[in-house]
Amino acid sequence: MADTMLFDRDPEDLTLEEAAAELERLAREIADHDRRYHGEDAPSISDAEYDALKRRNDAIEKRFPDLVRSDSPSLRVGSAPAEGFGKVTHKIPMLSLDNAFEDGDVREFVGRIRRFLKLDPLQGAIAITAEPKIDGLSLSLRYENRKLVSAATRGDGTVGENVTRNAMTVSDIPDILPADAPDVVEVRGEVYMRHDDFQALNARMEAQGTKVFANPRNAAAGSLRQLNADVTRSRPLRFFAYAWGELSETPCETQYDMVQMLGKWGFSVNPRMKRCESVEELLEVYHGIEEERALLDYDIDGIVYKVDRLDLQQRLGFVSRAPRWAIAHKFPAEQAFTVLNAIEIQVGRTGALTPVAKLEPVTVGGVVVSNATLHNEDYIKGIGQDGEPIREGKDIRVGDTVRIQRAGDVIPQIVDVDLDKRPKDSLPFAFPTECPACHSHAVRDVNPTSGRTDAVRRCTGGLVCPAQAKEKLKHFVSRHAFDIEGLGDKQVEFFYELPMEEGGIRQPADIFTIAERDRASPIIKLRNRDGWGETSVANLFAAIDARREMPLNRVIFALGIRHVGEGNAKLLARHYLDWETFAGSMKAAADTGSDAWTELVGIDGVGVTVANAVVEFFAEEHNRQAVDALMNEISSQPMERVEADASPVAGKTLVFTGTLEQMSRDEAKARAEAMGAKVAGSVSKKTNLVIAGPGAGSKLKKAEELGIEVIDEAAWVEMARAFSG
Ligand code: IVH
Repeated sequence: MADTMLFDRDPEDLTLEEAAAELERLAREIADHDRRYHGEDAPSISDAEYDALKRRNDAIEKRFPDLVRSDSPSLRVGSAPAEGFGKVTHKIPMLSLDNAFEDGDVREFVGRIRRFLKLDPLQGAIAITAEPKIDGLSLSLRYENRKLVSAATRGDGTVGENVTRNAMTVSDIPDILPADAPDVVEVRGEVYMRHDDFQALNARMEAQGTKVFANPRNAAAGSLRQLNADVTRSRPLRFFAYAWGELSETPCETQYDMVQMLGKWGFSVNPRMKRCESVEELLEVYHGIEEERALLDYDIDGIVYKVDRLDLQQRLGFVSRAPRWAIAHKFPAEQAFTVLNAIEIQVGRTGALTPVAKLEPVTVGGVVVSNATLHNEDYIKGIGQDGEPIREGKDIRVGDTVRIQRAGDVIPQIVDVDLDKRPKDSLPFAFPTECPACHSHAVRDVNPTSGRTDAVRRCTGGLVCPAQAKEKLKHFVSRHAFDIEGLGDKQVEFFYELPMEEGGIRQPADIFTIAERDRASPIIKLRNRDGWGETSVANLFAAIDARREMPLNRVIFALGIRHVGEGNAKLLARHYLDWETFAGSMKAAADTGSDAWTELVGIDGVGVTVANAVVEFFAEEHNRQAVDALMNEISSQPMERVEADASPVAGKTLVFTGTLEQMSRDEAKARAEAMGAKVAGSVSKKTNLVIAGPGAGSKLKKAEELGIEVIDEAAWVEMARAFSG
């Protein structure tokens, strides 16, 4: 499978564009497998392969939380609720919807319904409602004796997260229902954020130096799923009611009337909902709202059609996890033509040169687009990742009229070039072979194992390169690294430009001396600068001081070494335990004949690529200086030694048998060994524990005969998790 090649790449190493593209591909691929599995009962891959796809998706989303798509497998039915919130089991599952993309799909949908109900073509019309599909996250609200008792997200459709306290802060959600409402009412609908509220919230977050949300849906999801309900209260969330779960009594006979009733009970319901009598009428609503879409105050991504009569809904029932009586007619990806004014090259933290299209601003689906991703050099030439032509091989040139597309949250892309409009004197784009920020050589590495030339061209300037230096600083202060409050991307840019004696920051150590230099500054104090005041300066200095002690794994991660994401940083930290041992060993490992090198590549989970990257980092004199300067200012907290014999399987012999569903055999073996166990291939008297998955045969039998303890995979995963923390 060609796709799995990408799995070799650490999410840390993906550019924003690559991550977005991979998430798009994974969403499509996983949805496809879901359909085969649930809809057709004919899976084409094993559960383990499926899980690997999901895990890959999760890992990339973790690294790029802003890229989480509205159709992400992690948000869809099929994903388990996140940790941190209590769980709520939905009495009636929260279903999802099948999709229609073309007018013909809608005709088929109505035809299917008529056939299912055995309605004679001569028999009258069947009423179907049409309403906007709100792009937010669904929520189920349970009222008992007219009091809101619980609010739950959809989760996997059966079990969701308990977000009751958070939901209570949303003003569109009534705490109490009127006296005529039934005793048990579950109201379902969508939590969303309006465009103006979203923009104001992002402006506020930016001013505070916190990360902004990529789109209103992410903002709504992120705001509702806050462990602290006070944060949710401060966010402008809204709610549209459009469905229900359990009802002790159903007061109406149709979908339309029920929704109007929800309105009477105090919920906001969508004013654009219509009851239609024919496919033509449904399509009229669809195309009408599609035209209006750009002017709406909130994001919608299609129109939902629902059979109006509730008794017919009941008869139609559902297939797998979607009702037969409803369908979502999605809007097509939005496209527009505009002119490519320039191609700008951005330099990332690890030196990757990423081309960005600077477009003549154009409105696409209500959003003004002036940038689009160009991925890399080959993409501009019209060559895709696998060497195949894209855009029919047309290259992209400055001055071209291009067709751009914005689909959901994905960064706008150039999908086509209008060659008829190409200026006569235009030339193919010459991708720079020198870094635009520091003029060092920019090269495309050749992967030593695959022999393939990397699609990404990188600046070789390292810390000499101001662009890389700024990006590295941004990474250093980011949430999972030193997490310095009030020192966001904007502030890093600002401090980078200041003269050193006035509080400039060029490398991590400078962050920790800024207060001292500011105090001593004979020129301008920070508090006298535009946008700063006594309090904000004091807060920033306090936030910096609060980070003078940092666990070793975060220090290693913060250095921004290529291939060393949070996971690898933890592996290294757990192995070397303290900074001195780690740094000393990395310097010694420069000699690949040394014991230090053998030890490094021998760490479980650390391959040659990671080892090389770390060693190269420490071999650079300027990195060493920067790191030494940093360690003068901070102290790295050593890791606690995880004694292998603290694990329940230390010194024991384990045998895995049957199918493991949550991890591969290789991973299980590696985990067991990391826990101090030996893994054997067959059961004997020496075996202490057998982990048996489904399909276990003779080995399990033998274990039972010998009276050896047997556990299932869930118990094993629990054990491994408890040990690795
Ligand atoms: S009805 C049984 N109506 O779309 C039918 N869903 O793709 C339940 N959504 O999970 C859903 N607007 O989160 C329905 N007007 C609307 C909707 C809507 C948005 C979401 C909802 C659902 C998802 C399915």
